Amino acid sequence: MNLTVIGTGFVGVVSAAVYASFGHQVIGLDVDEKKVASLRQSIVPFYEPNLTELLVEQQKAGRLSFTTDYHAAISDADIIIIAVGTPSAPDGQADLKYVFMAAESLAPHLKSNAIVVVKSTVPPGTLDKVDARIKPLATVTYHLASVPEFLREGSAVYDTLHPSRVVIGAEHDEAFEKLELLHKPLNAPVVRVKPESAQMAKYAANAYLATRITFINQIADLCEKNGADVEDVIQAIGFDQRVGSHYWYPGLGYGGSCFPKDVKELAAYSKAVGETGNLFIKVNELNDARLERLMANFSRQVGGWQGKKVAFLGLSFKPHTDDMREAPSTKIIPRLLAEGATVVGYDPMAKPDPSLLGATPDSAFSQVDTIEEACQDADVILAVVEWPQIVSFDFAAVRNQSKQQWLIDARNQFEPEMIKKIGFTYIGIGRSIN
Ligand code: UGA
Repeated sequence: MNLTVIGTGFVGVVSAAVYASFGHQVIGLDVDEKKVASLRQSIVPFYEPNLTELLVEQQKAGRLSFTTDYHAAISDADIIIIAVGTPSAPDGQADLKYVFMAAESLAPHLKSNAIVVVKSTVPPGTLDKVDARIKPLATVTYHLASVPEFLREGSAVYDTLHPSRVVIGAEHDEAFEKLELLHKPLNAPVVRVKPESAQMAKYAANAYLATRITFINQIADLCEKNGADVEDVIQAIGFDQRVGSHYWYPGLGYGGSCFPKDVKELAAYSKAVGETGNLFIKVNELNDARLERLMANFSRQVGGWQGKKVAFLGLSFKPHTDDMREAPSTKIIPRLLAEGATVVGYDPMAKPDPSLLGATPDSAFSQVDTIEEACQDADVILAVVEWPQIVSFDFAAVRNQSKQQWLIDARNQFEPEMIKKIGFTYIGIGRSIN
């Protein structure tokens, strides 16, 4: 089949490369000439394990190309996948302008019976609005579908190749059949539903996971009040298979490009449809308030940040990505600097511009390439992201016996007794250890 993926962001590039690997002819289309020029040379503007290799392989095989030309990309495409960004509008709802721009731009070039698939995360009802943009400009019959994306950053290629399910939202058999055929090599269960259900399923999946994280964070906060250890609690409840012990790590709240945005959108959508007491409104508020609350708590425990040297381990929003969107570092580091700390940041992949972390050339902020350098003479080690390099690091090697040092384990990744044994004061999340 001939496929065109519109939007060469994270989801677009991964999807284009994976569909090409099934043997299809795939064109990645973007209005950004710079992006297209670098993708033509297999340069991916972000870090994602295994993606560059797949891109090179598919381009060499002649199955994957990139262009800015709508006519060239659409006129022969059997399936067109819209994977453009949907940033949050000021009221919190998804801003669909890029989806609509793509719809209007592709419409005049459609070939007969082409299928236009919306992969971007969009609220229920969007397909009708997309149709209203395409219909006046199209000269042929076409079909519409909604196929949401469930991949995680950091394991995007793996997740796309091994999805737990493929959700296809459509109204016509022809769309279902062609899209089912496209995804056949994945050997995954296919869920055929109405477009609204597919769109709602995407929000429901992310909102459930975000609520689960918020739930365990709330339990952790209660543990701190009563001497319980949240890790014991997780172990104890996890044996119930209805609960499970997976995806259950307390921390600083959820971040990244998806959960905060999707829960905010669902909260705004709930308000817009009159569900003003909706759970997701509260989940969003709790997550937004979490960092502030924990930072005040940490500050109390270390005796304030003024004059402290802080080793900040993990700048990206999670391991195996250099994505800085809604990363805790972007909120915590400005605060530490404002409160008089000296901050030394380390991340194996993310090397953000210091301005993103609230630092100017005069700020007491630097980034280093090793954990040893970051921790040298630190008063506080703040381990924020569970990169394997950080979790497996031997902190005994950087212990300075001449002073008190705190290790804040913001993802509960370390064995508190071991950290205490090597001489650090341990602070975890919901652990009431010291
Ligand atoms: C998330 C979903 O997991 C994907 O299924 C979905 O397709 C994607 O959003 C999307 O909508 O595009 P992602 O944002 O890459 O994927 O990252 P996750 O690994 O799910 O983590 C999200 C946030 O939750 C991170 O800040 C992470 O640190 C936090 N988290 C995760 C916790 O605080 N505790 C946990 O137990 C797990």
